[in-house]
Amino acid sequence: ILCGGLGKRLFPLTKVTNKHLLPIYDRPMVFIPIMKMVEAGIKEIMLVTGGQYAGDFLRIIGNGKFLGIKKLHYTYQEGEKGIADALSLAEDFADNKPLLVILGDNIFEDSLLNYINTYKDGAMLFLKEVKDANRFGVAFIKDKKITKIVEKPRTPETNLAVTGIYIYDSQVFDFIKKLSPSERGELEITDVNNMYININKMSYRILKGWWTDAGTISSYNKAIKLFKQKVQNEE
Ligand code: DAU
Repeated sequence: ILCGGLGKRLFPLTKVTNKHLLPIYDRPMVFIPIMKMVEAGIKEIMLVTGGQYAGDFLRIIGNGKFLGIKKLHYTYQEGEKGIADALSLAEDFADNKPLLVILGDNIFEDSLLNYINTYKDGAMLFLKEVKDANRFGVAFIKDKKITKIVEKPRTPETNLAVTGIYIYDSQVFDFIKKLSPSERGELEITDVNNMYININKMSYRILKGWWTDAGTISSYNKAIKLFKQKVQNEE
């Protein structure tokens, strides 16, 4: 679960703590991706954090047993050098096995269990139709295969956003080592995904339920609203 970055788009909320610890209705944001992993049967989790409030995670999550985690690992990303850079810190943790990656600000409805059970090898992406595709990585599909992904296109040719939920095999770490920083100075996960497409090792699923990020004031508030409804429906 990747929880680095400065959360600048949520200033001033993120001036006093890490974005992923802000409340989503009744719980800290990061509890939601943790819950999604535990629900999918994944109980050994590495949390990548960064910035000056990394210590707050330990205070809120501790050993994570109360959330159903069996083994919780923490690591620290120096600087904000991108999603792929944050993921590179999980190489030893992954120990040559496949891993599920969730961006800490992705809030969604579906259980991942059934999707994960269909994963075979390479990379698997999770797509969702959105109205504002220009804010995301956007996937192009031909003959049921993803042919390319473009990061935040000005005029998106499809409305299929690449969500921040990914499954990778251990080759991901070789691909990350080959990356150079993008125009925004980050190692981009979209570049990694295009490498998997080029070797024909990319599969995808389309999420059925709602999905949103929570990285901007408006998407943060949308996440709260959707999550609140889900909690209340389950009560
Ligand atoms: O939410 C899905 C989108 O996430 C994808 O559609 C895009 O392809 C992907 O690039 C990403 O887009 P954003 O530009 O919105 O990502 P952002 O910089 O907001 O980072 C998302 C999460 O990744 C953040 O909540 C924590 C983690 N992160 C990010 C950076 C830049 C890190 O752990 N370290 C980092 O250095």
